[in-house]
Amino acid sequence: MKKVAVYTSGGDAPGMNACIRAVVRGAIYHGAEIYGIRYGYNGMIKGDMKPLSSYSVSNIIQKGGTILKSARSEEFRTKEGRKKAYESLQENGIEGLICIGGDGSFTGAKVFYEEFGVAIVGAPGTIDNDIYGTDFTIGFDTAVNTAIEAIDKIRDTADSHDRIFFIEVMGRDSGYIAIRCGICGGAEMVLVPETATTVEDVINTLKVGKDRSKTSSIVVVAEGDEIGGAIEVAAMARKAMADADIRVATLGHIQRGGAPSAKDRILASRMGLSAIEGLLNGRKNVMAGVMKDELVYTPFEHAITIKKSLSPDLLRMVKIFNS
Ligand code: F6P
Repeated sequence: MKKVAVYTSGGDAPGMNACIRAVVRGAIYHGAEIYGIRYGYNGMIKGDMKPLSSYSVSNIIQKGGTILKSARSEEFRTKEGRKKAYESLQENGIEGLICIGGDGSFTGAKVFYEEFGVAIVGAPGTIDNDIYGTDFTIGFDTAVNTAIEAIDKIRDTADSHDRIFFIEVMGRDSGYIAIRCGICGGAEMVLVPETATTVEDVINTLKVGKDRSKTSSIVVVAEGDEIGGAIEVAAMARKAMADADIRVATLGHIQRGGAPSAKDRILASRMGLSAIEGLLNGRKNVMAGVMKDELVYTPFEHAITIKKSLSPDLLRMVKIFNS
């Protein structure tokens, strides 16, 4: 392969730029021409792509966001949209692709390969860490650190006012961010989509804490928890604990921004280089990941369908520390 392209897709994640840099520098090192596609699949459909040089990725390893921009493409979900994308790749002579994104982006990549035979290798970039085939995804570590900084600050004010805070963190289908934030922030309870918890469990835990003379409490809620987000859970708690002073904080998109942590820069660089070297060596329809500190490739099929389970150790810890 002599001409390939890289794009970022879906929700952005800190470290995506470090990954783009690794892909670009890796491609050039191996003698390939590398293009950057802007706005993910939308840009591919429109032919919004241009050649990248080693210099175009200077001074970006430390930056959050993605210099290539990102999008969730509705048009690429249609066969017609994918056909247009294929045609624009053909027009530009692109022979293979590196997709930096999450499960939705890899689902698109897999279908695209099956329909048009385009060789694609993925690098997992999402703060959710919900992709099988890698212990951690690009952006997860930074997002957790950002959330913990906010939780520590909320803890100060919760303590001053003897309040209960329900803090919502991101994680549509997964509690990875929530469980780590809960442990690091000393939360009294963590609600994650992976385990069923009732409102009664929440009330009991808070009441037990109060009986043990706790004056403030923090409950970390993953946005995708089956009871609801922090606003819903707090409303239920208010009904059952009329005398409690309850507040809600939704951390939202601050978790997606900021300079990537050292861990994310290394991870993104390793996976980016592994992805481009895999592609240039003939791999396709797979994702580059790091498991137990080893570089591995996992078929997209497995990366998107196998559910990565939350470590039971972590869940157990929260219970024990608050018993
Ligand atoms: O997939 C990453 C993520 O940040 C999820 O945690 C969250 O549910 C979603 O993206 C939010 O997406 P958007 O920025 O498109 O609203």
